[in-house]
Amino acid sequence: MAIREILEVPDPRLKVVSEPVTEFDDELKTLVSDMFETMYDAPGIGLAAIQVGVPKRVLVIDLQPEDTEAEGEVCNHGGHEHVHYPVKKEPRVFINPEILDPADELATYQEGCLSVPDIFADVDRPATCRVRYQDLEGETHEEDLDGLMATCIQHEMDHLEGILFIDHLSRLKRNMAIKKLKKLREAA
Ligand code: NI
Repeated sequence: MAIREILEVPDPRLKVVSEPVTEFDDELKTLVSDMFETMYDAPGIGLAAIQVGVPKRVLVIDLQPEDTEAEGEVCNHGGHEHVHYPVKKEPRVFINPEILDPADELATYQEGCLSVPDIFADVDRPATCRVRYQDLEGETHEEDLDGLMATCIQHEMDHLEGILFIDHLSRLKRNMAIKKLKKLREAA
């Protein structure tokens, strides 16, 4: 496994439309395990292959939810007692994914992206959808998604079409985001 370099805007490769996967071989398995390692290291909850420069229709997602069954750590910051739980790893791989039946109802999440570092903005997307995808062996599956998972897969699917979450913003908001990113880079 290896951590790969994550492309950032305005790298033109982020605008490339990714190609379907046809070979379910060791090279694909290596790509996927590298993508997980890169995503966990960043850290992030989703990554598309094109974000590490590979124009293939491959996504990895791990929402890393809190493991409330595990022993938590009681904490007092913020003025009230609360518990921090360790995160659970739930790695998911989606190869050649397709979105089916997107809901008319929209959900709004504040999104970010490893390719647009330190920028966050509200994006509306269908609240639920069905996804058809292949696994590492090439088997086809279908699954209904909602909540953060539905949003996350739609964000990652956009990468396969060369679209970033800031492309969903008004021109004014997108320009503000790009300006902020430039400033942050200059300051770094
Ligand atoms: Ni992204």
